[in-house]
Amino acid sequence: MTIQQPINNQAIHLTDDVVVPTNQSVFDESILNQLAAEFFSAQTVQSPQGFNFDLPNQAPSITHHPQPKDPFLALAGRIPAVAKQSQINPSVNQQYVDPTADHPERRIISSAPIVGGAKTPDPLGAIQDLNLSLLGQPEAIPNQVPRPDPSSFYFLDFQAPNPTAPVANVDLNENLRNPYAYDDFHVVDDHQLKSVLKDRNDKPATPESGFYFLNQPEVNSGYTSVKDDAQIPLTQQAYQPLDILRIRQDFPILQERVNGKPLVWFDNAATTHKPLAVIERICQFYKHENSNIHRAAHELAARASDAYEHARDVVARFIGAKSSNNIVFVRGTTEGINLIAKSWGKQNIQAGDEIIVSHLEHHANIVPWYQLTQETGAKLRVIPVDDTGQIRLDEFAKLLNPRTKLVSVTQVSNALGTVTPTAEIIALAHAAGVRVLIDGAQSVSHMPTNVTALDADFFVFSGHKVFGPTGIGAVYAKSELLDSMPVWEGGGNMIQDVTFEHVIYQPAPNKFEAGTGNIADAVGLGAALEYVESLGIHNIARYEHDLLHYGQNALASVSGLRPIGTAQDKASVMSFVLEGYETEQVGKILNQHGIAVRTGHHCAQPILRRFGVEKTVRPSLAFYNTTEEIDLLVSVLHQLRRAKPYRS
Ligand code: ALA
Repeated sequence: MTIQQPINNQAIHLTDDVVVPTNQSVFDESILNQLAAEFFSAQTVQSPQGFNFDLPNQAPSITHHPQPKDPFLALAGRIPAVAKQSQINPSVNQQYVDPTADHPERRIISSAPIVGGAKTPDPLGAIQDLNLSLLGQPEAIPNQVPRPDPSSFYFLDFQAPNPTAPVANVDLNENLRNPYAYDDFHVVDDHQLKSVLKDRNDKPATPESGFYFLNQPEVNSGYTSVKDDAQIPLTQQAYQPLDILRIRQDFPILQERVNGKPLVWFDNAATTHKPLAVIERICQFYKHENSNIHRAAHELAARASDAYEHARDVVARFIGAKSSNNIVFVRGTTEGINLIAKSWGKQNIQAGDEIIVSHLEHHANIVPWYQLTQETGAKLRVIPVDDTGQIRLDEFAKLLNPRTKLVSVTQVSNALGTVTPTAEIIALAHAAGVRVLIDGAQSVSHMPTNVTALDADFFVFSGHKVFGPTGIGAVYAKSELLDSMPVWEGGGNMIQDVTFEHVIYQPAPNKFEAGTGNIADAVGLGAALEYVESLGIHNIARYEHDLLHYGQNALASVSGLRPIGTAQDKASVMSFVLEGYETEQVGKILNQHGIAVRTGHHCAQPILRRFGVEKTVRPSLAFYNTTEEIDLLVSVLHQLRRAKPYRS
């Protein structure tokens, strides 16, 4: 656009809409503002994700500056914190959500006061008491999350009277909950819960330890040495509150900004973040210990071997294994299940045999067994779940028969968050002479694990889901199984002697670790588990239990939000679909607010289809999350619903 000075007192036509009378200077500020608005509004206005969506309180689009075509993708989904967000995407500022703002949806659902932006109703109390006629007839109340009984979460087993006692006489009429519970704490309502959580978070750290609760002598890991046969599980420990704000400082990435907003990491079921203890341990390894592990050769080999084997000891202790010889390092849960399928499975499963999995399983606990059935002629049988997403033990009992050779089930569903009744499943399977594999990928970071007390035959988990590095995980198996299982991969490191005619293998666990392993990350995994031990997994379980309770109730306040997975016993995961929106749209909008959630099928298509959906939005919690972060999530969802308010 070229601006010329007026000639012969004629009006100047700068654009169709902007006409400058000759008695007014074109350099008048208001004219320049108008021209600037005209210019910018002519540009294509798109969100960085290419999803056009005007939030109701969004400023007019003429204030948008031109956007890079797709900075979101170009930057691999992340806008670096160093970028000036106000220049890259000024619109994010207009989309700021006031977490204390009231929203009509909330008033419709509950008369309870608003706390911190998240409507926190008592879904079975306040809502039923609300006189809806005063408000006219609103839309139907969305699916409500059943109120869990706070005294009945069996994964919080640290007050179990005797969890090492064998499980006997499983009563299928009992509900799926473990009797282990802490009964000294009853949440009356969510307002009280929020203040309790806040109170915990606000506890000051002591100068001595940084964690005030670590100075209390009664708090310890609860385990004896892994060399001891008699493990002391996490039972008699006193619960200690976590100083969450202090703990968050251990995770540098939580200081990151995304789209100009503080990162809110609700994608913990996909992977967890790493504390400095892990980052620095790996750094230390590469600076001072790096070597292949062949102990006799030289000093660094000895250091690396010691570090690697120490990590194996820590894994054994963390999951309650009797010996570190029961621990095989693998890349992760998927490789662990494949190891078992291709070694023990091929050895023990033949045509006509049956393998039982549950409807909840991740693809990693379906595909290897499917492949084995294709190779052998065995059959895959599936335990159904009820409408809350919990395994039906009665149906499981019916599936067990003399042809059953293995039961392989998850301890926590990655898609729904269901905590499955693994103790009961193992007891029933063992009564039928059947081995059991527990997929602990989603459970180890949220609840105490004791494979010995559980009497699991196999247990697998991934390091990156428990604050450790990617590319490292572990298989636990009972000694008699590891000793009898054939090797599955061949190479160096796993052999004692090789000729062209004959190979002698190392004993377990080394016979399953062919080639150079992921040494540094195994060391990092050990550091991660020690870090979790320093907080106390039972403390983590309890905090997260309360946080999940808070989060589910807060989400229940969003009209048109359907939770997927409402089992009474859950951990971490709050899957949902939102009426009027594709799951990807919700994920992208949340990302604009710095909130990371996974959307999609979560590698668990069968269970999502059981609930009639192909995809969900899946916020998933870890101990470094807070109620304030949940408030923000829920506020954004309320805004989305306000944009497409009510069902017809
Ligand atoms: N299994 C991981 C998840 O559930 C990747 O997201």
